[in-house]
Amino acid sequence: MSNKDQFFQHITEGYRTKGDFITMGAAILDGETLTDAFVKIPLKTLNRHGLIAGATGTGKTKTLQVLAENLSEKGIPVMLMDLKGDLSGLAQPSPGHEKIDERHEKIGLPFESKKFPVEILSLSEQDGVKLRATVSEFGPTLLSRILDLTETQEGIVAVVFKYCDDNKLPLLDLKDFKKVLQYATDGGKAEFTKDYGRISTSSTGAILRKIIELEQQGADLFFGEKSFEVNDLTRIDENGKGYINILRLTDIQDRPKLFSTFMLSLLAEIYDTFPEQGDADQPELILFIDEAHLIFKEASKALLDQIESIVKLIRSKGIGLYFVTQNPTDVPNDVLSQLGLKVQHALRAFTARDRKAIKLTAENYPESEFYDTKEVLTSLGIGEALISALDEKGRPTPLAATMLRAPMSRMDILSESELNEVIDRSSLVKKYNDIIDRESAYEILNEKIEKAEAIAEREKRKPKTKSTSRSRTSTRQNPVIKVLTSATFIRGVLGVLKKVIR
Ligand SMILES: Nc1ncnc2c1ncn2[C@@H]1O[C@H](COP(=O)(O)OP(=O)(O)OP(=O)(O)O)[C@@H](O)[C@H]1O
Ligand SMILES: [Mg+2]
Repeated sequence: MSNKDQFFQHITEGYRTKGDFITMGAAILDGETLTDAFVKIPLKTLNRHGLIAGATGTGKTKTLQVLAENLSEKGIPVMLMDLKGDLSGLAQPSPGHEKIDERHEKIGLPFESKKFPVEILSLSEQDGVKLRATVSEFGPTLLSRILDLTETQEGIVAVVFKYCDDNKLPLLDLKDFKKVLQYATDGGKAEFTKDYGRISTSSTGAILRKIIELEQQGADLFFGEKSFEVNDLTRIDENGKGYINILRLTDIQDRPKLFSTFMLSLLAEIYDTFPEQGDADQPELILFIDEAHLIFKEASKALLDQIESIVKLIRSKGIGLYFVTQNPTDVPNDVLSQLGLKVQHALRAFTARDRKAIKLTAENYPESEFYDTKEVLTSLGIGEALISALDEKGRPTPLAATMLRAPMSRMDILSESELNEVIDRSSLVKKYNDIIDRESAYEILNEKIEKAEAIAEREKRKPKTKSTSRSRTSTRQNPVIKVLTSATFIRGVLGVLKKVIR
């Protein structure tokens, strides 16, 4: 048997599946695409997370598009974090191209041009379904992690949440939280100290400064009502296609704190909401995080631990997380080691550092008698990638340099009017986009403080009667004390006189 035939057999056996699957493309050996040597990913293992990596312009985003389309077609909903704004084309069919036809001929797959059901989401002022969460939902632990608080400060945050809970004060936005924090060391000091212990002003000051920092990144837009129900991410359209929820994050590149706040809150909410799935045939929801280094870049140790543990746990809920980034070393090792599907596009070897990264990357892939992994990593063309997945039994599939299929939808963005059309049609926009600022901690405490101040003010203005003057200590304003003082004085004078007389 020729080397080529052996390789063909190696791939077809290694990628055989009993259950349903999606096809990524066909395997390449020595620069030649082997038609029908399909690289297939079983739906069953898609909740085992994944990575799409590669140098700039090598095809990562198109791979993400291909995955999203094929998942949607299988009735699996998807959420995409679109940091460069280049994924909206999913809502329109591909115009086709002879290069695409050539590609598909080599692979052995007919090319179909299709559009997919898309929902546009937003974290900021941009149009689309507004994603929000209340501070209460966010909870004291996450809030402390995201603010990177000390243990003492974390304790104070916990007390503030407890106080609000005990006193039925809704914590909706950051304004509410700041108000309670101020109240705890100011107007409400006595009340707080009595029931929850003393809270130091320097600690609340430090927490307030960190909240302001978070607000400066636009987090005040994210905290509030109406809070987003994560079940709305798992909608299926009338043709049985999973919705592709595109979160437009083009204006978030320079606001990593807001991005990680949001990601963490979303993952925690999904984890709390979705039931345990057991051994299911396909995932419930797949999340793709483009430019994933952003959530790891400025993350504190505590935040990283939180992300790692969520990555570990969320799988059992049927949720798959896919990180898209230039260099796999951007993703922490503890996360990398948990990824089932790896799609590695070409890496460039310009510097010594690049060569080191290539060596490290190659070591993370299963060995292959057909490839020199390091060599393949630098010679892959655009829209080609090294793939390693998990088979239905959870074993690594053979390493396959793959000619990837082309997206069925448009590889370019939507025009402004096409985008508006998607947003106008959306039922979720109607559900979530009214800003509600119902009475919450801020208003309730303000009312309480105002009442207390009004009482104090009224007291001050009352005419000087006996009952009000009793509490005053100034002798000038107090006739009784005046009398007493003068009596003492007289007695003193009398005493002196008596002595003198004796
Ligand atoms: N699977 C594919 N089928 C057809 N063409 C592709 C495919 N993948 C990539 N291309 C071509 O390569 C170009 C660059 O791909 P893409 O935008 O996905 O790169 P990228 O790795 O995301 O780059 P960046 O790091 O700049 O975000 C595409 O515009 C497209 O022309
Ligand atoms: Mg890209």
